Amino acid sequence: MRSFVGRDILSLKDFSRDEFMRVFQVCDDLKPIARDRRNTDTLKDKTLLTAFYQPSTRTRLSTEAAMHRLGGHVLGFSDSKMTRAGDFYQESIKDTFHMLEYYADVIAIRHFQQGAPAEAAKWASVPVINCGDGWGEHPTQVLTDLYTISTEMGSLDGLTFLLVGDMRMRTMHSILYAMSQFDAEAIVVGPPDMSLLPEFKAELDALNVRYREAADVRDVIGEADVIYMEPVVQADYTSSRDERKGTMPTTPAEYVVTRELLREKARSWSIILHSLPRMDELPEDVDATRHQRYWVEAFNGVVMRMSLLSLVLGAAE
Ligand code: CP
Repeated sequence: MRSFVGRDILSLKDFSRDEFMRVFQVCDDLKPIARDRRNTDTLKDKTLLTAFYQPSTRTRLSTEAAMHRLGGHVLGFSDSKMTRAGDFYQESIKDTFHMLEYYADVIAIRHFQQGAPAEAAKWASVPVINCGDGWGEHPTQVLTDLYTISTEMGSLDGLTFLLVGDMRMRTMHSILYAMSQFDAEAIVVGPPDMSLLPEFKAELDALNVRYREAADVRDVIGEADVIYMEPVVQADYTSSRDERKGTMPTTPAEYVVTRELLREKARSWSIILHSLPRMDELPEDVDATRHQRYWVEAFNGVVMRMSLLSLVLGAAE
């Protein structure tokens, strides 16, 4: 297994099974710190920089929370318009990250452009962590999802995943890449205009990922051990939820998981994950069912980022 020290975390396509297990093992080791709401001094000599060019609640704040739990320092920006990268100058990724590498020991980046973290990693000698790049990938989210599934179901092998939502989304890409390392099958349900792209399907075939497409969640939910959801209604982020009331598109029933559907058709042990934020594809009354694991996943998000920061900064070898 390759060492994680100094390594960029850009994609799950290049993760081996052993590497997934190593990251999960470090999560297990560090979880008590987060569970007990303690801060340690493991990374007291290290600094994290978060460079977020797109909105985020969970990914940025859980990464920063993880660094605080490990005793490290944090700086960064969450509004690129207030930096030279987002104002009149539109400073390039190259020049920006050539600068930022002098300010921190690890950089977490979210960017609207697919491939931007990989470009940043070319110009920064410190590890770069991809926190979501356009329609590309979202490795830290999907590592969190897989860790949650592994701890809740006892294994990632022998499971059927039902993936519901917009198949062009970065989480869907990362989870399907990751499935190449496990004895798992995916059933994929999404609107035809949001289906898996042909070039991505070709990659999945090359990786021997087992998946099939279905039209309606109601026809296949009974086969699933893990129900993994994303919205198909794309939010208008320029207005608030209150302003949008009454004008919001609603999700067609083919892509909605309700409490009634779970009661009538789902396997009793199946679990639901959603990276959040949600729209109406996952009604709030599902939260009180035994299937809900997205709040467990939210906690695990901090643990996962603690694991990744420890590994790439050499505190877990
Ligand atoms: N899951 C996720 O990526 O959420 P944020 O957009 O809030 O970071």
